Amino acid sequence: MAKIYKVTNENLEQVTDEASQIIKNGGTVIFPTETVYGLGANALDAESSSKIYKAKGRPSDNPLIVHISDITQIDKLAKNISDKARILMEQFWPGPLTMILHKKEIIPYKTTGGLDTVAIRFPSNIIAQKIISKSNLPIAAPSANISGRPSLTDEENLVKEMSDKVDMIVLSENSDIGLESTVIDLTEEVVKILRPGYIEKDDIEKVINEKVDIDLNLKDKNEKPKSPGMKYKHYSPKCSITIVDGDEKEIIKKIQSFIVEDEKNNITYRVLAKNNFPEIPNKISIGVDNQEVAHNLFEIFRTLDENNVTKAYFPYISEGRLAFAIMDRVKKAAGYKIL
Ligand code: TXA
Ligand code: MG
Repeated sequence: MAKIYKVTNENLEQVTDEASQIIKNGGTVIFPTETVYGLGANALDAESSSKIYKAKGRPSDNPLIVHISDITQIDKLAKNISDKARILMEQFWPGPLTMILHKKEIIPYKTTGGLDTVAIRFPSNIIAQKIISKSNLPIAAPSANISGRPSLTDEENLVKEMSDKVDMIVLSENSDIGLESTVIDLTEEVVKILRPGYIEKDDIEKVINEKVDIDLNLKDKNEKPKSPGMKYKHYSPKCSITIVDGDEKEIIKKIQSFIVEDEKNNITYRVLAKNNFPEIPNKISIGVDNQEVAHNLFEIFRTLDENNVTKAYFPYISEGRLAFAIMDRVKKAAGYKIL
């Protein structure tokens, strides 16, 4: 069983000392970041990285993100770093942006899933920063969930799912942003977004004054990813999620027709919506704006399972900051079922 600590002002130094000692000794620590909780170990040691894959049940070809606590660490880990990449680091680090760069030899292939590139991120969360800097090591950390399940953003579900899988858990408040970092590829001429997040295409384009690409798999609104390597279900609650598309009137009409059937068949359903759609029954309010939706999303997915909900309807969110990142996660959770 993991040692579990909740960080307070009083114990911050002591808890982060102990966490960094565990990392140095080759152990595993779950720690908070501004996006989601991470499951960390020494990124420079293949054996330590292996423990992460084992704890999550993660396929060994799915690379980890390496977390740093100081921009100058980058040159020890990556090579051929473009000026563009450096500008983006200056602008967005520390923060929820992960950059794919050419790896240096010091990073074992275990950490990068066999790739010659490495994903690097400098989180803004102070607890994360302290654990990294005190361990004096880069820390490999994927999201701290069982592989294929939604990322963890709240203490209660985190402890329930992960406490017998790691050496230590450092708890803080619920994760601020609630969705994982934006991942961009900087190894080609044109910057490409591989995973959308809080930092958006426009934000990046403004800084580098160039067009940014979006990975083909993310572009189509309603289609399944075309690349055969993409797994179709991620972030997955057991509950079956259906995204409902259209304008507000159409969405209401569609949901009303679906739930007539569900009620006839005694199926437990919920509708996951913002504060609009007041006339729809069995609604779970997921937040007043996109920021709140992102913050709550993964916890709500887990609540559905706890309450044995069989089906959930999710009205498409197409407007505003974070909409693209939110719908990316919901589409994956829904296995791309959009009606
Ligand atoms: O917000 C976050 O990024 C969180 C916190 C803990 O920092 N971490 C996180 O890690 O979400 P993970 O492992 O759940 O997601 C990392 C993503 C995966 O989709 C992985 O395939 C991709 O980044 N990735 C990592 N290294 C890569 C590489 N060298 N090339 C392409 N994709 C890479
Ligand atoms: Mg993950």
